[in-house]
Amino acid sequence: MELNKNIMDYDTVSLDDANSAVVIIDQTKLPARTEIISLKTAQEIWDAIYLLRVRGAPAIGVAAAYGIYVLAKGIAETDYESFYAEFRKQKDYLNSSRPTAVNLSWALNRMEQVVLKNKDRSVAEIKQLLKAESVEIQEEDIRVCRAIGEYGLTLLKPGDGILTHCNAGKLATSKYGTATAPIYLGQERGYHFHVFADETRPLLQGARLTAYELQSSGVDVTLICDNMSAAVMRNNWVDAIFVGCDRVAANGDVANKIGTSVVAAVAKLYHVPLYVAAPTSTIDPDTPTGNEIRIEQRKPEEVTEMWYGERMAPDGVKVFNPAFDVTDHELIAGIVTEYGIAREPYTESLREIMSRKRTRPA
Ligand code: MRU
Repeated sequence: MELNKNIMDYDTVSLDDANSAVVIIDQTKLPARTEIISLKTAQEIWDAIYLLRVRGAPAIGVAAAYGIYVLAKGIAETDYESFYAEFRKQKDYLNSSRPTAVNLSWALNRMEQVVLKNKDRSVAEIKQLLKAESVEIQEEDIRVCRAIGEYGLTLLKPGDGILTHCNAGKLATSKYGTATAPIYLGQERGYHFHVFADETRPLLQGARLTAYELQSSGVDVTLICDNMSAAVMRNNWVDAIFVGCDRVAANGDVANKIGTSVVAAVAKLYHVPLYVAAPTSTIDPDTPTGNEIRIEQRKPEEVTEMWYGERMAPDGVKVFNPAFDVTDHELIAGIVTEYGIAREPYTESLREIMSRKRTRPA
């Protein structure tokens, strides 16, 4: 890391158009090392998403948008049909990198629409329009996260204790984060929040990323193991829980990092409101309930040996390693979007939020 440069001074994802590359912080190396890497090929972009070098639903969407633009740039400028056929191939490949965060397909579909709506233009012009769309997806992400922060802050008061799970912070977006946006805005306004960050087994996004970015921003943060959240809630140290999400179903069920549903169940017991910060790009009206959300299963080694000095589980033991779980909508006090806060009944309130989006784009 360059001297005196804070992790918050780096872009999570950016476009290096001159070198036809997507530039990211390799999040698998944080917090020990800040390594900035350039992704140029389809394989490099796919691997970066699959291996969680870039992760968090909105950041995956931005990386995919820049990724498909960079790949489209390299497609020969012959005729529209062959350009589109190759574009589709690359798009489908990137879309297969992770299944749960809907932002991946949302961003890639938006990029595809640019190609489809501009059939009458030259391929060179379409490439320029793809660049503009990918830049807009990132700029929109910043505006959306800030708006979520403003709405989220209305649910909090100075001095509050806030618990969060996984990393829905700046490192998962382009700025502010989603679940952390009210925390950062409150920080700017002297709210003096006390934040508890769950470490988030098995990949430790809470310990490695959330605790790191909040501490680097001067926020009062305390790291806890995942099995400690009940203890801090029982002690009355938590006034509200803010988490991010990877997909919100039409009925308000929410897929987020594995462990979120446990936090939600405990929060219900101790009467602590759990809020889900959700850009509308993460709301999937085509998925009726959480039961239809595809949950990513990951390698057993993430549970048995990763992060340990030596393997900590017997050889051959069966492992269940879902990357996400579904929190039932009954456990959610509100879904905070850039268009306002949805409350039960979610089928109606989310529909209303999506119609606001249609009449007033972000
Ligand atoms: O597996 P990850 O690290 O991509 O999971 C991230 C989460 O679960 C986040 O809470 C979610 O993507 C929202 S990020 C604003």
